[in-house]
Amino acid sequence: MFQKRIFQCAALFFASVFVAIAGEKKTIAIGPYVQNVTDKSAVVCWATLSGVSTVTMPDGSVQTLNHYQNHEMLLSGLQENTTYTYNVFGDGSEAGRGQVTTFPKDIAPFKFVVLGDTRSRHEVHKKNIDRIIAEKPLFVVNTGDLVADGRQIQHWEKFFALNKELLRSTPYFPVLGNHEKDSRYYFDFFNLPGNERYYSFSVGDAFFIFLDTEGEDYQTPRYLKTAAGREYFWANYNRRYFETQKAWVEHQLTLNKDAGFVFVFFHQPLFSVKKSRVADAELRRKFWGDIFERHGVQVVMNGHDHHYHHALRGGTHYITTAGGGAGLYEPDTPQPETQKIAKIEHLVSVEVGLEKSVLTAIDIDGNIIEKIELQRR
Ligand SMILES: [Fe+2]
Repeated sequence: MFQKRIFQCAALFFASVFVAIAGEKKTIAIGPYVQNVTDKSAVVCWATLSGVSTVTMPDGSVQTLNHYQNHEMLLSGLQENTTYTYNVFGDGSEAGRGQVTTFPKDIAPFKFVVLGDTRSRHEVHKKNIDRIIAEKPLFVVNTGDLVADGRQIQHWEKFFALNKELLRSTPYFPVLGNHEKDSRYYFDFFNLPGNERYYSFSVGDAFFIFLDTEGEDYQTPRYLKTAAGREYFWANYNRRYFETQKAWVEHQLTLNKDAGFVFVFFHQPLFSVKKSRVADAELRRKFWGDIFERHGVQVVMNGHDHHYHHALRGGTHYITTAGGGAGLYEPDTPQPETQKIAKIEHLVSVEVGLEKSVLTAIDIDGNIIEKIELQRR
């Protein structure tokens, strides 16, 4: 009797999942891909083509633009650390099929992979994707500049085509880079926690924070005639937004003070070894102050400067990982905090363990750039 009841409960649960995911059948143009996984829920996204338009340019050339309808399906009431097979059409056809694994609720070892600046040189991006698939991470982080121009739908078409097999079963957590240009496509295609611009989640007792260094995109108004006026405008336009975000980070780090490991991600780094960007990085250090060190954050990971750079300050490791595809930059200005520099395409794999975590930077040929050991807080 007891066994029968368990079977009935299980059958009801699975029936509800499959009823929920049986939708109108249209040809999938993008996806399906997994988003926003927690220990009890997941979102499966896909897009269907809703129309094609043309624009005739002044030179007579014709540009074609695809329009998409974005679909999102929330799977809730799932069991932790469990793999589910989904099919967005519910009829078993391969195009709509994929798998999603919920996060563990309790403290357990897992792996995640980080890469950044995947915006160009698609063959490099693809090679990194193949390595990520082989690494079998629980999730992937992109430190921004996913595409070269976030306002061009063709760039997202390429991004999702390259990542199709990876994203079918692996959740992807990006941050906004300057190349996303605050585009609505970013928000249409990704389903992220919180307000999607800055957000957090935890896996076991590892805590993850994702920040936005870009803010609202804007153009300098023409009526700002003086350089001083323009400088003031640029320095202050997003100030309230960034200060709100900083207060949110302080609050999040305080609430999660008992987390064993804390990882923070945002696009523009606090330490730059590219000469023309050293001063800007200093301004960002001034803004954030010692917030990450003071709260015992083990690792801050960024993109933007296209190489690998590891700086250490006050016990916090600052990793610039921006070797996902974009053309490499010359790391010509080492900083006093610099521990390691590598001008090579790469990704970073992080194994979160029970007592310690190990961060491994792996170059495009599979060679280890360096390993960093992180102790549980
Ligand atoms: Fe960037």
